[in-house]
Amino acid sequence: MKSIVHHIQLLVNTRMHTNVLRGSELALLPTIADAYLIIENGIILRYGHMQDLNREEQADEWIDATGAMVMPAWCDSHTHLVFAETRESEFVDKIKGLSYEAIATKGGGILNSARKLANCSEEELFDRAMIRLHSLMQLGTGAIEIKSGYGLNTEQELKMLRVIQRIKSAAPIPVKASFLGAHTYPLAYKENHEGYIDEIINEMLPLIAKEKLADYIDVFCEQGFFNVEETERICKAGIALGLKPKIHANQLHASGGVQLGVGLQAVSVDHLETMDADAIKALSNSNTIGTLLPTAAFFLRMPFQPARTLLEANAAIALASDYNPGSSPSGNMNFVVSLSCIQMRMLPEEAINAATLNGAYAMELGEELGSITPGKRANLIFMKQVPSLAYIPYSFGNNLIDKVMINGHFI
Ligand code: NIG
Ligand code: FE
Repeated sequence: MKSIVHHIQLLVNTRMHTNVLRGSELALLPTIADAYLIIENGIILRYGHMQDLNREEQADEWIDATGAMVMPAWCDSHTHLVFAETRESEFVDKIKGLSYEAIATKGGGILNSARKLANCSEEELFDRAMIRLHSLMQLGTGAIEIKSGYGLNTEQELKMLRVIQRIKSAAPIPVKASFLGAHTYPLAYKENHEGYIDEIINEMLPLIAKEKLADYIDVFCEQGFFNVEETERICKAGIALGLKPKIHANQLHASGGVQLGVGLQAVSVDHLETMDADAIKALSNSNTIGTLLPTAAFFLRMPFQPARTLLEANAAIALASDYNPGSSPSGNMNFVVSLSCIQMRMLPEEAINAATLNGAYAMELGEELGSITPGKRANLIFMKQVPSLAYIPYSFGNNLIDKVMINGHFI
């Protein structure tokens, strides 16, 4: 099956070869005006200026994209998409003044989601997550990472990871799985942290490795959750079984999680609301991607991530949604991109690169997705007629997406 998309007003993020972008490189977003794009069997074959399109070129399908901007689909490298129920009553508690930590202390937060998940069948969890996934695809998400972490015991964590595996098989887009057993201490181990860490390392991880249920090991490295030393032990146990770290770091406190992640050669360290000079220094020039989750900062009324400082320090940064029922009950990457421009002063070019190409690299999918590059998957967004690239983040909250293409087919 060969398709030719013709008369594209602007083809965005065109690159013959790619690598992860760092520092000032993010501000360069290559585009081609009045472009064509040839797709064969769901893979990008070639692109160029309309004037260079061979009129004799044969195709099964011609797609007229007059007036449309075409860009790579969003690559959302950090989500908690599998959960049983939403938590809007905590949202109201927060409006009334309770903090995220105070809600967690009274048994809300992650423990609340764990209780609900335990009462939800695998079938039901899968169905609910697939509904969410399909609505995210309509919003332009073309690859996604999903974490466990609402199980908090061997049986329930494995249940979550099996659900993620089922999503992997059923979804038309690439899905990566992270094991986040170390999300919080379950009530049974409130006074026995070593007992729970022992269950993670000696019970959960071997089973997960045996059944190949995860791609990454994640830990919530945070005061009141897992400290740096505990995070290190858990990550190293995962690494020994072939799972690279992708960790939650520096969300509520400058905990040392970033430095640890960089030292362990984590694929990414995520959140980064509270960065100190040392953490910024660690991330600059390291191969670990700093993934910023601005909707979590927005929803929890936290300071936003210091994107400009990180870019000036030559860090590689990505943007992701953190979709979860507690701190970011939306996986809309269009809003993530807008918010990063509005609140973190990222340029539209930087935000789009961070949410496409660098997001793909933050899932080790950079050779497969995230740009218009020959050989990559045709997971694309066709925007409605917009006056300029900057209009995309500027026009926040408005749905600018006309059509989404996954593997060469409109969904
Ligand atoms: O990434 N910070 C830890 N975990 C999630 C929130 C989980 C929840 O509240 O359910 C996050 O923000
Ligand atoms: Fe998260």
